[in-house]
Amino acid sequence: MKIIAGPASTELAEAISVSTGYQRVPVMSKVFPDGELYVRIDGDVKGEEVAIVQTTCPPEQAGKLFQLSFMADSAKRAGATKVTAVIPYLAYARQDKMFLSGEGISVETVARMLKAAGIDEILTINIHSEHVLAQFPFPAKNMSAIPLIAEYFVKKGYKGAYALSPDKGAMYIAEQAQKVLGGNAGYLNKTRDRYTGQTKQTAEGLDVKDKTVIILDDIISTGGTIVGAAKILREQGAKRVFCGCVHGLLIGDAEKKILDAGVEEVVSTNSVPGATSKVSLAPLISQILKGAT
Ligand code: R5P
Repeated sequence: MKIIAGPASTELAEAISVSTGYQRVPVMSKVFPDGELYVRIDGDVKGEEVAIVQTTCPPEQAGKLFQLSFMADSAKRAGATKVTAVIPYLAYARQDKMFLSGEGISVETVARMLKAAGIDEILTINIHSEHVLAQFPFPAKNMSAIPLIAEYFVKKGYKGAYALSPDKGAMYIAEQAQKVLGGNAGYLNKTRDRYTGQTKQTAEGLDVKDKTVIILDDIISTGGTIVGAAKILREQGAKRVFCGCVHGLLIGDAEKKILDAGVEEVVSTNSVPGATSKVSLAPLISQILKGAT
């Protein structure tokens, strides 16, 4: 197998190449004066299985998806026998059902476009709802990085911390972290107005008084969910509050808002490269790619 380093994930691709021993194939990319995108795979992939590493996080999710599609097409034209797309953050995954009449299911449309471009299978991390994978036109694997995030907090000395999911539907995330942290776990109830997008969170029977709590979520976007959870934790007497997420989109001043709400540290993975991405996905992805060949 060879690792094609997509422009959005060059460092992650390099780390995966080092830990798997699979050769890294660089990609040259540029933007034409009219804004159209260009990529060229700068290496030989004839007769090879390839893994293209390309996250599709903001900004410019659509451009990153186009680059991925162009790389898949180029790899197939250059003779690659199988193209696996490693997409740590899969854009449009939150529109995974028709919430209102007149909507489509964006993530299914994205998957069909990727298939048409030449992608044979995908590997992604903490997709928002795993059930959508069954509708994809190719095999799709989803892995959780939550244990890695929990290990980060254990290494920092927070073994035994309380794992909190800010949404009952994502309690499995708190439970995955709990297995590593070894403390208790719980959740908040969260409801969302489908028209305004406004969310409301409430707590029932949380036992966090004087405890160190780590709020864990798959995605932080505006930070509103974490800010709301931190407020409830303060009201309930939590001693220290941290937060960990897989995909730290952290739009605008989201990180500042979270820190201002009393959260001591925000930790995310390099599915979205940035200041908070302190946990690398390279070990998890490498392990899967090694097992896959
Ligand atoms: C929603 O269901 C997700 O799991 C996250 O909780 C959500 O996307 C976070 O968004 P925000 O940071 O804007 O509250």
